[in-house]
Amino acid sequence: MGPAAGMSPHGPKGATRRGPICAAEASGSTGAPEAPSRYLPRPLTELHDHLRERLLAATTALGLDRAAAAPLVRLDPPKNREHGDVALGAFQLAKLAGKAPPALAGELAAAITADDVIESAVAAGPFVNFRFRRAALARAVLTAVQTDAAPYGRAPASGQVVCIDFSSPNIAKPFHIGHMRSTVLGNSLCRIHRHLGAVVHGINHLGDWGMPFAKMMTAYMHWGNEQELHRSPMRYMFDLYKRYGQEVKEHPALDDEAAAHFRALESGADNQERRMWQLLRDESLQAFQGPYQRLGVTFDHVIGESFFEDKMEAAMARVKAAGVLENSDGAEVVWLKELGIKEPCLLRKSDGATLYHTRDLAAAFYREDTFHPDRILYVVGAEQKLHFDQLKGVLTKMQEPIAKAIEHVPFGLVLSKTEDGKWEKFASRSGNAVFLDEILDEAVAKVRAIIREKNPDLPDADQTAEQVGVSAIVFNDLKNSRIKDVKFDWESMLNFDGETGPYVQFACARLSSILRKVEVPVPAPGQVDFTLLADAERVLLVMLDFGTAVQRAAEQSEPSIVTAHTIALAGEIHSYLRDHYVIGAEPAVRDARLLLVDAARRLLTTGLSLLGIAAPERM
Ligand code: ARG
Repeated sequence: MGPAAGMSPHGPKGATRRGPICAAEASGSTGAPEAPSRYLPRPLTELHDHLRERLLAATTALGLDRAAAAPLVRLDPPKNREHGDVALGAFQLAKLAGKAPPALAGELAAAITADDVIESAVAAGPFVNFRFRRAALARAVLTAVQTDAAPYGRAPASGQVVCIDFSSPNIAKPFHIGHMRSTVLGNSLCRIHRHLGAVVHGINHLGDWGMPFAKMMTAYMHWGNEQELHRSPMRYMFDLYKRYGQEVKEHPALDDEAAAHFRALESGADNQERRMWQLLRDESLQAFQGPYQRLGVTFDHVIGESFFEDKMEAAMARVKAAGVLENSDGAEVVWLKELGIKEPCLLRKSDGATLYHTRDLAAAFYREDTFHPDRILYVVGAEQKLHFDQLKGVLTKMQEPIAKAIEHVPFGLVLSKTEDGKWEKFASRSGNAVFLDEILDEAVAKVRAIIREKNPDLPDADQTAEQVGVSAIVFNDLKNSRIKDVKFDWESMLNFDGETGPYVQFACARLSSILRKVEVPVPAPGQVDFTLLADAERVLLVMLDFGTAVQRAAEQSEPSIVTAHTIALAGEIHSYLRDHYVIGAEPAVRDARLLLVDAARRLLTTGLSLLGIAAPERM
């Protein structure tokens, strides 16, 4: 590792004191019973499998039906690692047994006697805490990581199908910073679900239809110039968009013109509007490719709103046939009061025009027929909550089974600091558009400057700066629970010692550097004496939690749980290496530690890849 160091090899503040990952979310830990997973089989390690088997044998011996008990045996990281390696909340099993949870927990703890794998089982109120033997822990975790076994490698096909609607910018408007959050969150969710063995359809539901598009078209017809459009499509369209906003104040008739253009477009005829639509759409899509590529984002389907142009009538007919469509002053609406939604869902305006909602309804049917999804995740800002409540509401009222699959995955705003130190909605800083490529460029330039100062001889510095700069922004977006607002603050996001992308990437680079320098190959798991890794239990326990972290991230659509895992693992391996040599240790110990280092590197790389972040070899 270069003197790029200068970056502290310790965990970020508090990292080593941190509890196990997802303790806060662990079902039992708050005492609240939780329904077994609705969607996914849980990818557990061999250790968990062994313990589960023992527990099922014990519950069967207590007279419980095995099939009924099996889904209730959920093993989670305990709230406090001092208590054990994994914990079982006995709430639901106790219900099944008709006993009080603490009583059942006591009986289970007594039944799980020690064996080669399990060291102890101790009841604590309604919980049972288990401890694995240290050598068994090391052997199981490291072997699984090194052989890419689930949950460390991709799980076998689970049979689950997940549609993820993300990014979905309005292409005739500037790419909003909120779209960047959707892009980054959705990309990570696609990766997480794929890792768990689901079939994933990542969909870019482009906003390429409707009145906003018609307004852009109108502006272009009045003031547009094709050459300037080609030169810099996003900026140029943004200027047109602004100009329309100004001019319409003085000439409200522009809006009527836009409505007429939209009708002409919707007529389906091969006319001027149609050609303009094609031009603006092609240019915008092209312009998005750059940022998407830099973010490592791809889509399985780019199906914009326009695609549903000829599918809306059928969707409307279905709503009508279900008997839920009502006329309201010439408009067609669905009332949802009985579902607790005050505002009706407007599906057709009185002038006959369709809306955003109409297209989302047609899209839901299309996705159902085409992909047969178990879940459809809409990664869209919290400000569209009502829209998705209504969409789900209409389908619920229609008694369409697909209603249950619809899940809005909302997220908070991006905030930036004003001159006087207040945090405000990002775009309002300059009242300007956010051009994603400019933000990415700025991040990369800043990282390039840090590298120049700290590690001037780094080979491939430009490429590393690109990886680290872009990732810093991505990581910052995925760090906290998604519903929280994100503070966009260069200093904290690029702090190589904080809970940041660069910090975790640096941990990877450090591990790679050890592996390069040691000059002996990483041993196969079968060649290692695992009793020599008793001192690495903190690292190993974080590794053990990986499966639960990924699982929960998928269930709760919360990549931040994976982010937290990478931070904790980076912190633990940093502190381990502070106190333990690898190079220079006697051969048997060196080999065991080498295996640990390699496994940590692999798992950090996997964790980062689930976030859509690259792991540089050097930095
Ligand atoms: N284009 C919309 C916007 O920018 C987001 C679309 C989200 N997806 C959906 N199926 N409605 O506000």
